[in-house]
Amino acid sequence: MATTTLSVALLSGKGGVGKTNISLNLACALYQNGYKNLLMDCDLGLANLDVLLGITPEANLQTALLGQAEMADVLYHLEPQGFDILPAASGVPELTEIRPDERDLLLSRLEGILHGYDYVFLDIGAGISGTVQTFAAMAAMRIVVITPEPTSLTDSYALIKVLNSTYGLRDFMVLVNQAASAAEAKASFDKLHTTCRHFLHLEPMFLGHVRSDSKLAEAVCHQQMLLRYAPGSPASKDLQTIATKIQRLRLSMLDWLAPRRVLQPPSAIAEKTPSQA
Ligand SMILES: Nc1ncnc2c1ncn2[C@@H]1O[C@H](COP(=O)(O)OP(=O)(O)OP(=O)(O)O)[C@@H](O)[C@H]1O
Ligand SMILES: [Mg+2]
Repeated sequence: MATTTLSVALLSGKGGVGKTNISLNLACALYQNGYKNLLMDCDLGLANLDVLLGITPEANLQTALLGQAEMADVLYHLEPQGFDILPAASGVPELTEIRPDERDLLLSRLEGILHGYDYVFLDIGAGISGTVQTFAAMAAMRIVVITPEPTSLTDSYALIKVLNSTYGLRDFMVLVNQAASAAEAKASFDKLHTTCRHFLHLEPMFLGHVRSDSKLAEAVCHQQMLLRYAPGSPASKDLQTIATKIQRLRLSMLDWLAPRRVLQPPSAIAEKTPSQA
């Protein structure tokens, strides 16, 4: 079956940079633009999509993998936000690191479900664990979320380096979050870009930036999504701009996506996406 579904992994070297809030709000923005979206919580150690949304799903990715629930029953439709989530459990020690057989089981159980969406976002845990790398390698597009802090830059470089050496991945988008200004965001991206070009001979692409915005922390405390809590705030506007950019990228990738699976079993030899060509 030819696919038009774009899978997008959100990654970061350092924790707490904003991946979960960004993926939630991008899914919301794309729904508002007329698309059908799924957000998968792939942070199997410290899943927290449910907490951010103030929901208590009965089944989750781990219970489905353990055969205690059907994958279709794990899907949770969010209203009025308008998209689906696949929640995961937090603190289930036997499933924080995904083994290759579990990965293949997950892929086969998800296969029929994922084609129904325009966008599938993977909110992946921070760091460079094997599970992080597996999920990152399965997606068609990778967005590395960084902040202007020096530790975020060094940790994201380490993440890109390990994904490049393990899976041969060369295509990375960079989103600078919590930036004071567009200029600061661009300067942070430039540092990462220069380091990657010099040491890894690869060139990440600048996807955009999201300004630091006190409304975001307020929205989190109210267990609401920023786009609904404060749609006119600076960070909301930035997220809408990024969602539109992702829409354009997907349209330019449709021919490349068609023969692929929505999530591909990771292989050591990766191809360039058309957006990177
Ligand atoms: N643009 C922003 N402006 C202000 N605060 C922000 C912004 N983005 C994120 N934050 C703050 O950072 C916190 C952490 O965000 P989030 O949980 O989305 O990060 P994460 O990368 O998913 O973390 P983890 O690595 O633990 O999964 C938020 O609760 C919020 O307080
Ligand atoms: Mg998170």
